[in-house]
Amino acid sequence: MALISRWKADFPVFTQSDQPLYYLDSAASSLVPKVVADASYQYLLNEHANSHRGFYPLSAQLTQRIEDIRAQVANFINAPSADNIIFNSGTTAGIHLVANGLNRLKSGSGNIVISAAEHHANLLPWQQIAENSDIELRVVPLAASGQVDMPMLERLIDDNTLIVAVTHLSNVLGVENPIASIGKLTRQHGAFLLVDGAQFAAHGKVNVQALGCDFYVFSGHKLYSGHGSGVLFASDVAIAELAPVVLGGGMVNSVSVSDSAWATGVRKFEAGTLNAQAIIALSAGLSYLKQAEAEGAHTYLAELTQFTLDKLSAFGGINIYSVQQSKPQSIISFNLERVHSHDVAMVLAEHHIAVRAGHHCAQPLHHCLGVGSTVRISLGLYNQAEDIEQLLVGLETCRQLFIAR
Ligand SMILES: Cc1ncc(COP(=O)(O)O)c(C=O)c1O
Repeated sequence: MALISRWKADFPVFTQSDQPLYYLDSAASSLVPKVVADASYQYLLNEHANSHRGFYPLSAQLTQRIEDIRAQVANFINAPSADNIIFNSGTTAGIHLVANGLNRLKSGSGNIVISAAEHHANLLPWQQIAENSDIELRVVPLAASGQVDMPMLERLIDDNTLIVAVTHLSNVLGVENPIASIGKLTRQHGAFLLVDGAQFAAHGKVNVQALGCDFYVFSGHKLYSGHGSGVLFASDVAIAELAPVVLGGGMVNSVSVSDSAWATGVRKFEAGTLNAQAIIALSAGLSYLKQAEAEGAHTYLAELTQFTLDKLSAFGGINIYSVQQSKPQSIISFNLERVHSHDVAMVLAEHHIAVRAGHHCAQPLHHCLGVGSTVRISLGLYNQAEDIEQLLVGLETCRQLFIAR
């Protein structure tokens, strides 16, 4: 099986230095292909203005471009309309808007259900609400599969559940949750479903209508688009119940010193100047990803993930926390027995290998795993078998340094 990336040459970072780079940290931020950098550069040189404000061509054209990108994003996740797409700075900002803007969470009673696998971004806002009200935070444990324990979820959701907030793909385990089933259950109890799609969006086809979710959030920087962009999908029903949290320019119909009326539609959630450069980079990143998907990216990454899992298992002395699924999903967390994850990451860095070590902003999940930290490798379009072979060389050095003495 030839696991050589057909996309690696699209990423200039690999040729800008004499030193090799084995980048295995795409779940933190994926690298940026030249087409995305070019789109940003062209925007800054030729199209930069303030959108949604001016009548002059530069501003009006940018406004139109951003609205076209809203439609492109809607298409990317199969949202019913561009009017369901809110631009912001990332997943964290999207979850904050929901947690602080949803009317039902201001009632002061009921419960919120999350899973034990959540990134802190999808835990802390709900924890805060529970601390400051009579709303109870219920945490569903994980099954042996690494997925949300569905029988437990059925027991924890009831007619007082206000919202269920779960990750689509765990940023530690690389395990995909059965979101459509969770959506069905959630609807039976009249609760909202928020899906944290920060990791999944790069690895699978998102269809918010088939998933039956009310909110879906993701970040551009994990989608080959650079930093600064994020998307919150909200269904029509959800938008009707969501109040703006950040107030200011661009989100109003009329303002007097004593009262104000918000703009209709999603613009009321986008106060202040939009980050047009990041949105244009997002558009270029999504186009790039779509093309790569058409060229077989998902299958390639699933094969490379399986190859990695097989190599790590054969290496021995490694505890792998990621559970194998029918379609392995590019994220693998592990520990080298008796070696701290930080030591592993530092030795790997000396071998030009970039990995993440620590709790990956998912401390409760690490408590469940019974470890304080793990080493995480996460794959992107540029990765290939060579990266994994180099990883094994680095791990062998760790073994020699820390164990075989
Ligand atoms: C599952 C998950 N949720 C949320 C986030 C937060 O994303 P951001 O930092 O882009 O807001 C991350 C980032 O790693 C993540 O992996």
